Amino acid sequence: MQLTPLHIQGGRELSGEIAVQHSKNAALPIIVASLLSSEPVTLHAVPRLSDVYTILELMHHIGTRHTWTGPNSLLLHTPEIVHTDAPYALVSKMRASFIVMGPILARAGEATMSMPGGCAWGPRPVDQHVKALRALGAELTEDDGNFAARRSGSLNGHFAFELLTVGGTHNAVLAAVLGDGVVTLDNASIDTDVVDMIEFLNGLGADIRGAGTHTLTIRGVKALRGGEYKVIPDRIEAGTFMILAAATRSRLRLTNVRTDHLNAISEKLREMGVDVTEETDAVVVDARARELKPVDVVTQSFPGFPTDVQPQMSALLATVPGRSVVQDPVYPDRLTHVAELQRMGADIEVDGYTQIIQGAPLRAAAVKAADLRAGAALFIAGLTTDGETVIDGVQFLNRGYERLAERLRGIGAGAVQPEPVLTPEATPLPQLAVATD
Ligand code: EPU
Repeated sequence: MQLTPLHIQGGRELSGEIAVQHSKNAALPIIVASLLSSEPVTLHAVPRLSDVYTILELMHHIGTRHTWTGPNSLLLHTPEIVHTDAPYALVSKMRASFIVMGPILARAGEATMSMPGGCAWGPRPVDQHVKALRALGAELTEDDGNFAARRSGSLNGHFAFELLTVGGTHNAVLAAVLGDGVVTLDNASIDTDVVDMIEFLNGLGADIRGAGTHTLTIRGVKALRGGEYKVIPDRIEAGTFMILAAATRSRLRLTNVRTDHLNAISEKLREMGVDVTEETDAVVVDARARELKPVDVVTQSFPGFPTDVQPQMSALLATVPGRSVVQDPVYPDRLTHVAELQRMGADIEVDGYTQIIQGAPLRAAAVKAADLRAGAALFIAGLTTDGETVIDGVQFLNRGYERLAERLRGIGAGAVQPEPVLTPEATPLPQLAVATD
């Protein structure tokens, strides 16, 4: 869907408070994890984002009925798995949907999935998902990018991931929750989104030990009950707004944050000379009247500096006099923001996954977001200039930032998005009643 571009009027100091939304990347796997229970599950603090609507569309195909019971509360119910396949048309919209394989396999004994495909910024393999499920006893065949999985009994045994993968860990845990096997996963992800999904599942009666460590032990249980859960705040959105405060040399107070999830970003901003003060559930970022220093940044899995904040950080450093070096080995091709920032006057030289940035003031321009976090880098860059930046590709921003223009205006930014962002009424699915039987 082509949306009218986002108009950003820069040159204003921002101020006040902004409430961070709840985590997209935690909510998506938790929504998927609800497939493991045949009882109703209510999730609170679910962000209203196009990615959430996309996963709900896929879940609807699988057999889930859902209804919004409040602005951010979602009731999900999957009495039975109606379809064990995840069609390409749905999986190709969002790579995260590949993790439905685990719960479908667990509940129905078989699952067929299309290969999710890459992103605007390069290939995103699923080899670790496949190796894990095979090592735990599932049969997996691949034919022209379509995977068919089957299990004859409960998943059982041990797998050590060859690298840290958030989605791979989600998928393996989801596949192992039901049954009577015992699964051990080594070199598992300790990402906040993995921990949140495990806490949700344990609340429904799963037996998963070791959340937040690199070794997870999952003892299969017969069934999960229903229940309620509140999703954690979005550390990537928090990081985006912290960087926005620094880039516009403003002071912002961000509420609804988990400061313990933001350490890598807070420390990097402090190293630049930004004042970052942590409060309970809030963080104040003050960069007013400060000479910011260039810094070097290398992305890592959590608790390191997140790849999902790399483009935004690159935009900030493009405004800071001096030489900064940004490296993103997690996603070496995540560079679609570079050419667009260069249109705004940024001096960025690319060598592999390394950006060498010579900071200087940016100018407004017409630019295009090719993916979500590149879009975030562009609105940050636009707000540092004296003119009007017009950002095309708004559909990518809608994947991860709820009511963005409205919320930016709330902190004094010039931001206009003529078309309504996704609202409940714009949900592509009918609002389904939950089964009462
Ligand atoms: N990888 C493999 N093989 C696999 C899986 C991953 O080689 O089977 C590699 C990837 O290519 C990458 C690294 O492992 O180099 C980490 O990938 P990971 O599996 O952790 O990423 P993901 O689960 O697919 C989630 C987020 C991404 C975020 C990454 C990294 C969701 C829906 N997505 O993806 O978020 O960049 O973790 O933290 O949770 C975003 O929000 O903008 C976004 C892209």
